[in-house]
Amino acid sequence: MIAFQNVSKYYDLHTVLRNINITIQKGEMAFLTGPSGAGKSTLLRLMYMAELADEGNIIIEDLDLASLKMSRIPFLRRSIGVVFQDFKLIKNLNVFNNVALALRIRGVVEREARNLTSEALKKVNLRHLADSYPQSLSGGEQQRVAIARAIVADPLVILADEPTGNLDPGTALDIIKLFRDLNLQGTTVLIATHNRELFRGTGKRVFKLDGGTLSGEEVG
Ligand SMILES: Nc1ncnc2c1ncn2[C@@H]1O[C@H](COP(=O)(O)OP(=O)(O)OP(=O)(O)O)[C@@H](O)[C@H]1O
Ligand SMILES: [Mg+2]
Repeated sequence: MIAFQNVSKYYDLHTVLRNINITIQKGEMAFLTGPSGAGKSTLLRLMYMAELADEGNIIIEDLDLASLKMSRIPFLRRSIGVVFQDFKLIKNLNVFNNVALALRIRGVVEREARNLTSEALKKVNLRHLADSYPQSLSGGEQQRVAIARAIVADPLVILADEPTGNLDPGTALDIIKLFRDLNLQGTTVLIATHNRELFRGTGKRVFKLDGGTLSGEEVG
């Protein structure tokens, strides 16, 4: 479960998020939309504590972020897989090692890291490209590598920030389909996008942000 309770965020005197209240159930898939500058990325960044809320509280599963000890932040981040618009792959590592790195830096033993990496690549249908390097892949393939990296440690929540912003419309819908498949396997998914085509017809809840305020909710 994800819950925002009266959350506000300021940068100096500028209010970026004002009194946000959102609840997303465990296993739900939802979207966050709104124009550029609305605060979508900031809202996601608060969830993995890249930024701290100035007011209110955020609950992720059973973690209460307002009172979370610094020493528990790595634990929080292990529960959350994050996907970005620009993929953020490491150029000089092949696909397999880009995904496996997420486990190796957490000290997962090598045999298990390899098994989990193979499974994650299978879920995104990329096992055949395990030895390829990012620059030889299409945008959609690169994003699937990034998604494999996000899910390899079996997170409870996947956050995606404009994950299809660099992809053509057909590939974008394939990526959304992949998120829907992951959601069907039980992972809570929240996708921030200004592209209405991505949630049209999905039947999922869409939270609308405007100028830092939650301006409404609709069903896609
Ligand atoms: N580190 C920061 N310091 C100061 N202002 C910031 C910072 N990060 C974001 N902002 C401001 O907060 C507001 C919301 O930014 P945010 O990136 O969350 O919007 P967004 O909805 O993700 O936009 P986009 O669709 O362009 O990605 C903007 O006015 C932005 O300039
Ligand atoms: Mg953004």
